[in-house]
Amino acid sequence: MKVPFLDLSLQHQALRAPALAALAATYDATRFCLGRDVEDFEKAFATTLGYPRALAMNSGTSPLHVACMIAGFQPGDEVITTPFTFISTVWGLSYVGATPVFADIEAGTFNLDPEKLAAAVTPRTKGIIVVHLFGQPARMDEIMAVARRHNLFVIEDCAQAVGARYRGTPVGIIGDAGTFSFYPTKNLGGCGEGGAFVSRREEVHTRARHIRVHGSDRRYHHDIIGGNFRMDGFQGALLNVKLPHLAAWTARRQTIAARYLAGIKLADVILPTSPDYGASVFHQFTIRHPRRDALREHLAKHEIGTDLIYPVPLHLQKCYAGLGRGPGSFPVAEQAAANCVSLPIFPELTDAQVDHVIQAINAF
Ligand SMILES: Cc1ncc(COP(=O)(O)O)c(C=O)c1O
Repeated sequence: MKVPFLDLSLQHQALRAPALAALAATYDATRFCLGRDVEDFEKAFATTLGYPRALAMNSGTSPLHVACMIAGFQPGDEVITTPFTFISTVWGLSYVGATPVFADIEAGTFNLDPEKLAAAVTPRTKGIIVVHLFGQPARMDEIMAVARRHNLFVIEDCAQAVGARYRGTPVGIIGDAGTFSFYPTKNLGGCGEGGAFVSRREEVHTRARHIRVHGSDRRYHHDIIGGNFRMDGFQGALLNVKLPHLAAWTARRQTIAARYLAGIKLADVILPTSPDYGASVFHQFTIRHPRRDALREHLAKHEIGTDLIYPVPLHLQKCYAGLGRGPGSFPVAEQAAANCVSLPIFPELTDAQVDHVIQAINAF
């Protein structure tokens, strides 16, 4: 039985008719940049997920960039974040000239370790970028306590955690700004690039709205430095078709994860932990094993796709060699990169496919 790591065609075939109808309507109305489809999506996204308001943008990297602009990070400022994430988490810092400072992760959740975070604070620290990696909320109480103690601007990178809640609060509005990605592989994936920005602070939201459109509130009047971070009309139209399915897709991901958690019995395997402060929305289901590469090969022989997310932590990426943090700097993240492997998890997987993965792992 074949089990692909991810198959986007199933979801897109199922939604083909309403998606094409929505695209045709947007095309006929020439609503190409922002416009009613995007506004409808922003409203629906906010009400469905529990945000006071939301701004749609043209990728998940853009709202991170915008958040760094709003935070006012400058050259010489340090911003603490995790080394175990996708590179986009820190691009915004480099765009504004601030310095990413990494703090190691916890072994169980793959997220920032609040004690390591606290230890990384210096007089130059101006902010924190938290990532809710693989859909699992990070320890926000402890992280926010550090932020309050040192008056730091907190950005939550929720690219992988759409729909997740921390002690009942949707991720993204615990800190000062929250960011999402609608890259096609995400839990809520568009058909192209997309992202969103949320904030519980109205003035932060307003600033992001102006930055999104060239620092402007009135056409051809530019009060602040901005850029072009607008979402396309087509993307808004497609996301309006998909958003109503998100809750069911998330529930299915969680059911698959529960099946993996109950079924995988292989010796020496480490399964993702499920902290009581907030359930994962399982963008990834990532396990660890000391013989990870051999396990991957074994699964490939059983026609099971896997992926390495992430094989190289950020402090060991060439582009950040200048930060001077070599191997051994963040041992927990480095170990995760060396022994983690992500299993297939997407809503359209059948129970039989999930059981095939479990049996193959247990037979390793
Ligand atoms: C943790 C994280 N942050 C940021 C991004 C950036 O999103 P995008 O690819 O939409 O720019 C992604 C996804 O690609 C991500 O996984």
